[in-house]
Amino acid sequence: MKALTWHGKRDVRVDNAPDPIIQEPNDAIVRVTTTAICGFDLHLYDVLGAFMGEGDILGHEPMGIVEEVGEDVIHVKPGDRVVVPFTICCGHCWMCERDLQSQCETMQVREQGLGTALFGFSKLYGGVPGGQAEYLRVPQAHYSTIKVPEGPPDERFVYLSDVLPTTWQAVEYAGIPEGGSVVVFGLGPMGQMSSRIALQKGRRVIAVDFVPERLEKARSFGIEVLDEQDHEDLPGVIREMTDGRGPDSVIDAVGMEAHGPSGGMISQTVTGLPSGRVAMPAMKHTKTDRLNVLYRAIDTVRRGGIISLIGHYDGGISDPIPMLKLFDRQVQLRMGQANVKHWVDNIMPLLTGDGDPLGVETFATHRLPLDEASYAYEMLQKKQDGAIKVLLKP
Ligand SMILES: NC(=O)c1ccc[n+]([C@@H]2O[C@H](COP(=O)([O-])OP(=O)(O)OC[C@H]3O[C@@H](n4cnc5c(N)ncnc54)[C@H](O)[C@@H]3O)[C@@H](O)[C@H]2O)c1
Ligand SMILES: [Zn+2]
Ligand SMILES: [Zn+2]
Repeated sequence: MKALTWHGKRDVRVDNAPDPIIQEPNDAIVRVTTTAICGFDLHLYDVLGAFMGEGDILGHEPMGIVEEVGEDVIHVKPGDRVVVPFTICCGHCWMCERDLQSQCETMQVREQGLGTALFGFSKLYGGVPGGQAEYLRVPQAHYSTIKVPEGPPDERFVYLSDVLPTTWQAVEYAGIPEGGSVVVFGLGPMGQMSSRIALQKGRRVIAVDFVPERLEKARSFGIEVLDEQDHEDLPGVIREMTDGRGPDSVIDAVGMEAHGPSGGMISQTVTGLPSGRVAMPAMKHTKTDRLNVLYRAIDTVRRGGIISLIGHYDGGISDPIPMLKLFDRQVQLRMGQANVKHWVDNIMPLLTGDGDPLGVETFATHRLPLDEASYAYEMLQKKQDGAIKVLLKP
């Protein structure tokens, strides 16, 4: 089959890879029909390269048609249309039973001391081949698949793999009170969708980025936006807009590749490291200053408010978190990989009903054949051609 594989820092290529086969009784093989590129893929493309190996297949936002199932897979069968959650989970362990599927005890990556295995997320998260490929082996397929109806286009459902449950959870975790406000940092796909969901729930949303077309996309959806390059004292400006206190909640949808106020990369890029055993421990303890947006969130949220993190700070960031400040300001930090399955029933009516209240059908800025994935990564990373979300068609 053809698959998008990693070869080095900012070097991904569509290569031939072995066709996946059923290995366990609860596996399924899915023929991928649409598969998206995520902000996390851009971390693996660049700053987290040390966790990747030559030939690793990227991608964790796929959907498609079930081709084959193992003998224990009953709830889906060949021919079914499914979305594959990026968090691989069993459905029957202690964590899954409590709707903490991203902590699944059957699939936890214990060698790394981390939560459940994820598709195409490097050695950090289990080294499971990803979904930017023609075919995907789905472990735990008896539970870790979402059956979707025939008829509507893939774009109605593909974001159930990650963007929608992640942002739904972020908004839930943000606990924005009725009549309250939220500031969303970052207007990539995660920030865009978090803003839409919070708005859909009737909350006031102020979103911050510095890329003109990303600000415009949010503005055109009715979201108040601030260009972070226009304001020296952004938390002060936001406080003025929110009765002098700051917003009830802040969602950090940026993560470790934050840019400083000038738009220049402030993150200390830990790349160029050889991949493999030597580099990984070194990286886990590398000190960085990539917490820029988190610090900003702490300064911005009102006292007694809540910060909800979507942005990834993987790579073992060991910067000291300003604990005293957090404590004194009585801020709650909530975070974690999305418990995808927990949120599906809440989201589905917004996808299958009349209209398209979350604008999923017009969410992607680019649709390209899988063959052009390498170009798509470069375009997204450099934010060229208005790229925000790219869907690949194998
Ligand atoms: N929690 C989860 O389950 C989960 C799942 C997938 C991805 N993620 C993470 O979510 C984050 C966002 O993902 P995405 O796909 O939207 O990524 P993205 O790279 O497309 O978006 C990040 C945005 O942040 C903006 N930005 C950078 N510095 C900023 C600053 N100082 N102030 C304001 N905006 C700034 C960028 O211009 C960009 O638009 C990533 O860190 C990704 O790894 C989390
Ligand atoms: Zn993703
Ligand atoms: Zn489980």
